[in-house]
Amino acid sequence: MTDPQDAIDANAERREAERDPRIGERTAGEKQEGIPFIGAGPGDPGLLTVTGKELVEAADLVVHAGSLVNSDLLEEYCAEAEQVSSVGKDLEELVPLMRDAYEDGRTVVRLHSGDPAIYGAALEQMDALEHEGVPTYIVPGVTSAFAASATLRTQLTLNGVANHVAFTRPQGKTLDPEEDHISEFLEMGDVTTCIYLGTHAVSETMERLLDAGHDPDTPVAVVYHASWPDEDVIEGTIGTIGERVEKAGYRASALVLIGDAARKAGYERSYLYGDWANRTGDTEEDS
Ligand SMILES: C[S@@+](CC[C@H](N)C(=O)[O-])C[C@H]1O[C@@H](n2cnc3c(N)ncnc32)[C@H](O)[C@@H]1O
Repeated sequence: MTDPQDAIDANAERREAERDPRIGERTAGEKQEGIPFIGAGPGDPGLLTVTGKELVEAADLVVHAGSLVNSDLLEEYCAEAEQVSSVGKDLEELVPLMRDAYEDGRTVVRLHSGDPAIYGAALEQMDALEHEGVPTYIVPGVTSAFAASATLRTQLTLNGVANHVAFTRPQGKTLDPEEDHISEFLEMGDVTTCIYLGTHAVSETMERLLDAGHDPDTPVAVVYHASWPDEDVIEGTIGTIGERVEKAGYRASALVLIGDAARKAGYERSYLYGDWANRTGDTEEDS
């Protein structure tokens, strides 16, 4: 097998020279040749897309993201298939596993949690597989920030409160302090900041925000296991949430939402169902 980084670099060079001919020929959601990288959604089996479900049901081999994918989903949709967790496996192990099964004529799917495009490290697997001659494609899923906002019964964008959404992660093993932009997103004022991969570091993240001078009363909600049977919501502020999350004992699998949208506070009716509703012609101001 080619070294994964060499495969990534070779694919990048090829893409610079010519556009992937499949772009524009196929729409997202179409079943295609190759191994699909499917977003399993946040947890509830009902939140897997119809296409994703059909592909998983037809699979002989399902390589999944371990405990981030609800075992109920695996039991309901692919109990007969061989199931392999990707946790603790590097590319050198995962890629030949999927390649060999595909070349043996088995139906292989790769199941990521949420949507594969968000903190999923899907592309490096896809590049390595494609370099080995195995085509791949993405089937999108519901990312956990969307499940968390549904749990909170709010919107991530809210008129007069939040015009933007940031999907981000805190500094840590893989993100240097200077690459952590959480404080900058908050400074913008009208952003709902959704922090992935930060459950273990809520207190530290909040302390950094306080040190940077942010209002301790800024609303924060932490949604643990959104859409799972043991889903839990902890609400508070920059000043209080750290202690509350520590008390609850959550160290993983939660989404941290910062901003007024988390509290649904102070928003205004939108133009969409006001003056805009009576206008004619196309608009992108859609629901
Ligand atoms: C490796 S990332 C994968 C994200 C995933 N691709 C997505 O789109 O949701 C894992 C992080 O996603 C978040 N996460 C995943 N599933 C979640 C859920 N059901 N509820 C809350 N957060 C979740 C947590 O922040 C967790 O640390």
